[in-house]
Amino acid sequence: MNQDSGMYQDLDRLLVTRQKIREKVQELGRRITEDYQGKEPVLVCILKGACVFFADLIREIDLPLSLDFMAISSYGSATKTSGVVRILKDLDQTILGKDVIIVEDIVDSGVTLNYLKQILRQRGAATLKIAALLDKPARRKIPDLKVDYVCFDIPDAFVVGYGLDYDQRYRNLPDIGVLSPAIYEKP
Ligand code: IMP
Ligand code: MG
Repeated sequence: MNQDSGMYQDLDRLLVTRQKIREKVQELGRRITEDYQGKEPVLVCILKGACVFFADLIREIDLPLSLDFMAISSYGSATKTSGVVRILKDLDQTILGKDVIIVEDIVDSGVTLNYLKQILRQRGAATLKIAALLDKPARRKIPDLKVDYVCFDIPDAFVVGYGLDYDQRYRNLPDIGVLSPAIYEKP
């Protein structure tokens, strides 16, 4: 998709281009490949936002691995977190004794990941790490939350594209951009 697409008209500005994303995802894949030598990690995609990042990242990891998927809700269609986290789809496999990497689109307040980490730790994962495409450190409410791998730190703005949505739209944009406030401030 090129940037003449109508969806790009709803952006204030482009924040991360597809080329930059590609470079960083490749770099992260190499790091994970090194860090997990001799292991067979389980990569857990947090639906739906992480699906695009996940599909690209797993192809940059040169290790035997398995995939699983979880869907949780914490947002509804608003642009601010509610603090309430619900499991909509749980893992298919047991993760007891496994090396688990949670793959998330963005860490904002950190409430969602903090909750997920607690749950997966209780289930007996041998190791548990987080890989996030984006991090908004300015908005963190859980200061202790350790995000092990991050591709980009971004400013406090609402972003869409490359899997991230506003009201389920814009996930298919190949780049990441700041959504025009006019879009979500509409009456
Ligand atoms: P947290 O629990 O506040 O860290 O929220 C994390 C979730 O909020 C992410 O998985 C996203 O689904 C959503 N989110 C947070 N910031 C943004 C954004 O800028 N654009 C789109 N979704 C976001
Ligand atoms: Mg979302």
